[in-house]
Amino acid sequence: MNVGPRGRRFIRQALRAAKLSPDFGNYLQEDGFSETFLRKLGYPPTASMDYSDFEDCDYTHDLNEPLPAELRQKFDVVIDGGTIEHVFNTPQALDNVFHMLKDDGIFISVNGMTGWAGHGFYQFSPELVWRYWQDARNCEVRTCQAVSVDPSEQAIPVTDTGKSGARFRGLGLHGRWYLYYVVKKPSNANGVKQLNNIQQGDYAVKWENAPKEQSAGLYYMSLTELADKYGSDKGSTGHRYTELYHMLFQPFIDRPITFMEMGLLIGGPEHGISADRETKDLPSIRMWLEYFKKAQIIGLDISDFSWFTHDRFSFVRCDMDTRPNIVAATSALPELDIIIDDASHASHHQQNAFLTLFPKLRSGGLYIIEDLSWQPKPYEQSGITKTAALFQSYQQDRAFTHSDPNVAAEFNALRDDMSGCFIFPVRYQKQRRDQVLVVHKR
Ligand SMILES: C[S@@+](CC[C@H](N)C(=O)[O-])C[C@H]1O[C@@H](n2cnc3c(N)ncnc32)[C@H](O)[C@@H]1O
Repeated sequence: MNVGPRGRRFIRQALRAAKLSPDFGNYLQEDGFSETFLRKLGYPPTASMDYSDFEDCDYTHDLNEPLPAELRQKFDVVIDGGTIEHVFNTPQALDNVFHMLKDDGIFISVNGMTGWAGHGFYQFSPELVWRYWQDARNCEVRTCQAVSVDPSEQAIPVTDTGKSGARFRGLGLHGRWYLYYVVKKPSNANGVKQLNNIQQGDYAVKWENAPKEQSAGLYYMSLTELADKYGSDKGSTGHRYTELYHMLFQPFIDRPITFMEMGLLIGGPEHGISADRETKDLPSIRMWLEYFKKAQIIGLDISDFSWFTHDRFSFVRCDMDTRPNIVAATSALPELDIIIDDASHASHHQQNAFLTLFPKLRSGGLYIIEDLSWQPKPYEQSGITKTAALFQSYQQDRAFTHSDPNVAAEFNALRDDMSGCFIFPVRYQKQRRDQVLVVHKR
C-alpha cells in the first residue's frame, strides 16, 4: 500500500476506532498490494483479477467482456479500489461484478468522482449506485459517499436524490474526490445477465410527472368520440366503424403514416345531387387529422374540397366512375399505409379503386371498404358482382369469382399480397348483412 503521511494518520485513526492495532508497519506489504492489510483487518484469503497477469493476479479477465461461467457467484466480497474507471465498457464491468458476487455478497467500490480528469475513461456519479445497484439490480446500498483524497475533508453521504426529482450537485467539492459505496447483493437480486434499460432518476420523475397530454384529453379520445364530435356517420349513432378502427389503427396512431380516404361528405352524386354542390365540411377528414397527429391525410372526392387547407392534408379531385380516372388521379400519390373507400359505394367504383390502389399500399397496411350493403342507384351497374360477394368468394374458396372473369383474374393476381381479409356485418350483428371489409397487406 502506497499511502502518504496524511493518509497514514487517517488510517491510524480509523484502526483505533475499529479497535485494531494502529501500528501502521504491521499492515505494509513489500510489493505494495493490499492483501496483508485486508488479512490483518480480518478478511479471509483474497484473490485478485486483472486484464493481464503482469502483476501476478489470480484471474485474468477483460472486464469489457462478459464473465466466464466459472467466475459466476464465486466471491463473498468484491473490492474495486479504482479499476472500473479504467474499463471502457462500464455497464459490462458492473454486470460482471454483480455476477461474481454470491448471494449476500458485498461489493466495495472506490473510484474517481471528481477531480480525476485524465486518470481513467470516466469519473462516476452516485446516480450510478442508486439506479444500477439499487433500482435495477435490487441490491441494498449500505453506504454511498463522496470521499476526498484529503483525509481532513469530511466524507459527504449521498442519498438517493433521483426519487425526489433533484440531483446531487457536488458543489464545493474542490480537489480530488472518490465515489465510495458499498452494496449488498441479496438472494432476490435481479439476476438477469445484462442490464441496459436504466434511466436517470430525476428524468424518470420528470417524465412520470409530466402533464399527460398523451394519456388524457383529446389525444386519447376514442375514435368513436372523435367521429361524434365532428359529425361523421362512422361513430356511435351511425355505422360504428370507428369501434373497429380504433382497435385496428392503434399501431399507426403515433406514426407519420400516409392515410387516404375516398369520399368526404355525405350527400353527393350517389344520392342524385350534383357533384358541383357546395361543400362546407369534411367531418371524417377533421376526425383523422385529430386522431393521427403525425399522419399525412389525403382526401379524394368528385366534389370540390380544395377550400380546406391544413399542413397535413391534401385533396385530390376525381370522378371514380372509370378506372382511367382513378389511375390518373392517384398515380402520383406516395405509398399509403391506410386506405378507406367511403365514396359512392358503387361496386365497380369500389373494385376499380381496390385494383388500382391496393398495389400502392405499403406492406402491413390496411385497405378498408365501407358500406358494402348499400349501392347507389345512379351508379350501380346491373348484374355486377357486389364487392361483399366478391370477397366472400375469396374467404370461402381462396379464389375470387366475379361476373367479369377479367376482374376476377385481376383480383386473383393480388391474392399473394393479402395476408388477411375480414368482413364485418352491419353494426357487428351476426344475422345482419355484410357491411365493412378490411384487407391486410402482406
Ligand atoms: C358517404 S359520403 C362520405 C362521408 C365521409 N367519409 C364521412 O365520414 O363523413 C360519400 C362521398 O362520396 C363522394 N362521391 C360520390 N360519387 C363519387 C365519384 N363518382 N367519385 C368520387 N367520389 C364520389 C361524394 O361526393 C361524397 O362526398
